[in-house]
Amino acid sequence: MCGIFGIVTDKEQALGALLTEAAQRLTYRGYDSVGAATINGKTIDLRKDKGRVKDVAARYNFAEMRGTRGITQLRWATFGEPSQVNSQPHLDSDGDLVGAHNGNVVNNVELRQQFMAEGMTVRSMNDGESCVHAVERYVDRGYDLLEAIRRAYGDLQGDYSFVIGRADDDKLYAIKKGSGLVVGIGEGFTCVSSDLPSILPLTRTVVRLQDGEIITLAADRVELHSVKDGAPIARPPELITETMEAVQKGGYAHFMLKEIHEQSQVAREVLHMLDGSPDVAAVVEKMKNARNLYFIGCGTSYHACLAGAVYFAQLAGRAAIPVVAPQFMPQYGPTINSQDVGLFVSQSGETKDVLNALEGAEARGMAAYGLANVIGSTLTRATVCSLPLCCGYEISVPATKTFTNQVVTFLYLAYRLAGRDTAELGRIPALMDQTLAMVADQVEKLASEINTWNDLYCLGYGATYPIALEGALKLKEITYAHCEGMLSTEFKHGPLSAVSQGFPILFAAGPLDTPLIVSGLNEVTCRGARAIAIGQDDPRLRANASEVIAIPGSTPEIAALLAVLPLQLLSYHMSVLRGFDPDFPRNLSKTLTVD
Ligand code: G6P
Repeated sequence: MCGIFGIVTDKEQALGALLTEAAQRLTYRGYDSVGAATINGKTIDLRKDKGRVKDVAARYNFAEMRGTRGITQLRWATFGEPSQVNSQPHLDSDGDLVGAHNGNVVNNVELRQQFMAEGMTVRSMNDGESCVHAVERYVDRGYDLLEAIRRAYGDLQGDYSFVIGRADDDKLYAIKKGSGLVVGIGEGFTCVSSDLPSILPLTRTVVRLQDGEIITLAADRVELHSVKDGAPIARPPELITETMEAVQKGGYAHFMLKEIHEQSQVAREVLHMLDGSPDVAAVVEKMKNARNLYFIGCGTSYHACLAGAVYFAQLAGRAAIPVVAPQFMPQYGPTINSQDVGLFVSQSGETKDVLNALEGAEARGMAAYGLANVIGSTLTRATVCSLPLCCGYEISVPATKTFTNQVVTFLYLAYRLAGRDTAELGRIPALMDQTLAMVADQVEKLASEINTWNDLYCLGYGATYPIALEGALKLKEITYAHCEGMLSTEFKHGPLSAVSQGFPILFAAGPLDTPLIVSGLNEVTCRGARAIAIGQDDPRLRANASEVIAIPGSTPEIAALLAVLPLQLLSYHMSVLRGFDPDFPRNLSKTLTVD
């Protein structure tokens, strides 16, 4: 997830070290490139490249950069591969505007074409550059900078925030639409950033921006306006008293909990991205015409593949074969040819098992596409085309937001394949927030009640089968208990013998499969089990389960997706109750680059 920082000071000074430090403090968000710009009178000094902050700052000697104003940006690639030219900040055509953004401008491709047709100099593929040209467009038409930014806001679709400055001016301007933005006010300076860690070493007096607001930063004051009508907004500053570590975790006790709560926001971003992506139509067409279609991944990403296969079949009548990556070549290698299509799914894009399968598939001529969070990773470079997951950096080892965005992407592709209106999926982010609000207290209480058990089952059926596997994986990863995920109907073929008084069994209950789930519930409760049903509220579940964790009503596909949220939370609380660190479970690694 990108990060921006801008500062306006009351006297010309060496800003390079300050900007480097600010960038360093945003690195927890994940990045592949870094850049800095200082404005000194009429001169803009811009230095940037892909690489680590320390290395790029040393190579380009950020330390010698001087000015009264400065901007730095960390880039997490979405539009355009990580490279020097795609790094941010960006200049406008004649080099007197400089700006950088955080987030995704989803109509970037069409905007770039418009800017080029209007005679502007477009240097990169990056949507941050589009923010600068969108402002340039209105400056060229004679609007003052504040008004030009307001008008640009109307042209830039998606979720983003950006900061921009002009050479012959003494201010910076920043705007918020979807992505976070905080302003700091100090002695002789004001600053703005995507997040507090880069502000707090400078000042603890801050103003938090809301969507649709534009801020003007002068060295001695800030002015807030509404983008809609330009009206001034009065918001008193607040004083931040939390520690830096607490601030980095956004007030949550662990990154996992923060990332669980970020799921609605990143789902919104990936849906925007998919709506605006020029690649989706081509990928869907290719999948439609494939002889065989494979979804390939490991761990959590494999569970998303399983969910994708259910959605493709149920919604679009298109069979897809989900495969755990290392089993792909041994099982299907001899049958693969150029008429087959594979979607390789990986949060990191570096999982060796997935890359091995990709190499084997490509050697046999298969058309290989990627679905990855880390753009610029090996997977995204080795595939014909790769769709981004738009989750930003996932710090916690157990995947949460990347899983739900993988599933959302599969659902979106299935809708497109079926010719259904994807606007329906726009409800997902709000439903996710509603789910978390509905289940939070109940799940925390449940965690304390079943935490003594070191043996659990998590069962699902149809669309919730992959969710049950994912819930069980989460529980295994961070509680160190044995939790098996399985098809609910398979439980009677063996595992039933494990059931004793109070034995906890979680059922992810899809609305289409209630009768089957009801018989599964009875099968275990009559033997003393504690059967916990997670699903839309239904009197049949209430009458037959030991308890119901109710989630909001939606479609069967969305209901399956929502059912994973209580399971993530349950794992989290059980892990914490056991005294473990859910972010960094023993023996596990976020990225497995070994066979
Ligand atoms: C490791 C991680 C898992 C992850 C799997 C696949 O085992 O601990 O959380 O699901 O790798 O990772 P990927 O980056 O390919 O999605």
